[in-house]
Amino acid sequence: MARKYFVQTFGCQMNYHDSERIAGLLEREGLVPSAVPADADVVVINTCSVREKAEDKLYTELGEVRELARETGRDPIVVVAGCVAQQEGERLLKRDASIDVVVGTQSLKQLPSLIASAADRRHPVIDVQPYDDVSFPLGVARPSDPARAWVTIIEGCNEFCSFCVVPYTRGHERMRPSADILAEVGHAAASGLCEVQLLGQIVNHYQAPDDPSCDFSELLRRVAAVDGIRRVRFASPHPRHVSDRLIDALRDEPALCRHLHLPVQSGSNRILKTMRRRYSREEYLDLLDTLRERVPGIALSTDIIVGFPGETDEDFALTMDLIRQARYHSMFSFKYSSRPGTLAGKRYPDDVLEAVKTERIVALQRLQAAIQIELFAGMIGEVHDVLIDGVSRRRDWEVTGRTPGNTVVNVEAPTAWIGRIIPVRITGYGPNSLRGETLATVQQEQEPLHAR
Ligand code: 5AD
Ligand code: SF4
Repeated sequence: MARKYFVQTFGCQMNYHDSERIAGLLEREGLVPSAVPADADVVVINTCSVREKAEDKLYTELGEVRELARETGRDPIVVVAGCVAQQEGERLLKRDASIDVVVGTQSLKQLPSLIASAADRRHPVIDVQPYDDVSFPLGVARPSDPARAWVTIIEGCNEFCSFCVVPYTRGHERMRPSADILAEVGHAAASGLCEVQLLGQIVNHYQAPDDPSCDFSELLRRVAAVDGIRRVRFASPHPRHVSDRLIDALRDEPALCRHLHLPVQSGSNRILKTMRRRYSREEYLDLLDTLRERVPGIALSTDIIVGFPGETDEDFALTMDLIRQARYHSMFSFKYSSRPGTLAGKRYPDDVLEAVKTERIVALQRLQAAIQIELFAGMIGEVHDVLIDGVSRRRDWEVTGRTPGNTVVNVEAPTAWIGRIIPVRITGYGPNSLRGETLATVQQEQEPLHAR
């Protein structure tokens, strides 16, 4: 019987995409996916260390795997991958004897051979070397989303924002050749996925190493031109690198979703400076004005950190004020968590009380919820093209999808439409999603996927 694997993923899209690569590498070795860890022969925990809580999840998960092994009498190979693996390395093996393999963010391709040697020798193996290689064999990653493909364009980051561990865990910035990216996009389109999401820490810093004329906006145009690709997204751009050429591409290119996730982190110039973000509140807000002027209908979203060291009530009030002005379609917010090795972790005491961080994040989320409801109410009656990507979480007779602006829409439609773009009229909304009715006809439903 074929051996089974199970991958548990924490963290960002980059990590979820790494898990697609891990799954593909293991399937190439003949392993098959298991729906639960209990009957897996290989259990991979793909970790995130961006915030402390994310890291704690590894230890909870390892405890559960140990417990399961005791209950079932099985002895799976336990692999720790991702940013915690990269950062903690040998320390993980000392801390937890149930780990068989530690594989870093840059050594994923070594995973099959690491598993083989751990199985042979029955003692733990580790590879957390900083490989510079950004190649990955075409067609091996196993897409986990029925509608969209994730394609990495840049690995690592050179920005060194003072709070962020990524430059230490994912290494320095390395660009993938545009030829590799376009080949991967072509493969995704040929396998029926009509949306591609380009991934990187600062995607808009992209410059093709194999073609001097291909900057990020040119790459977007080339990706959008690939046969079968109907939608292109990317995450995340850095506000300081949004060029005129990128804005022009967003305006001109119909396949390019009119949505920008532009993490601002704070509305206070004093905090932005100690965060080393290298833009001011005024420059950021000007950029939003320019985007809204030149790309009508663009949806914006952001990330905020509350309780960064030294953040006063006045600093936080400035963040609240920025949120009021920016009117984002969505916002991700985090309590600051001091990360080992980062500039802020070394230099600034984590001095905002936990209770104050909680108070601030609650106030922030309440404000954003009110703004979101207003924006959603204003969308009633509009028709949006929705890419259907799954069954609704709450009601299993509904499917769910996303507008080009990245807002979730639930709609009554057959599950056979998953993976297709359907016109939907917005009829209602909840706190985090819209509700709509499909305007697609049965005839459209019968057209072949690629005609859409
Ligand atoms: N503490 C809290 N939030 C953080 N983020 C990154 N590092 C930290 C940290 N040390 C948040 C930022 C980033 C998002 C991916 O995670 O908002 O944009
Ligand atoms: Fe981290 Fe800043 Fe790089 Fe984003 S740009 S990954 S926040 S260092």
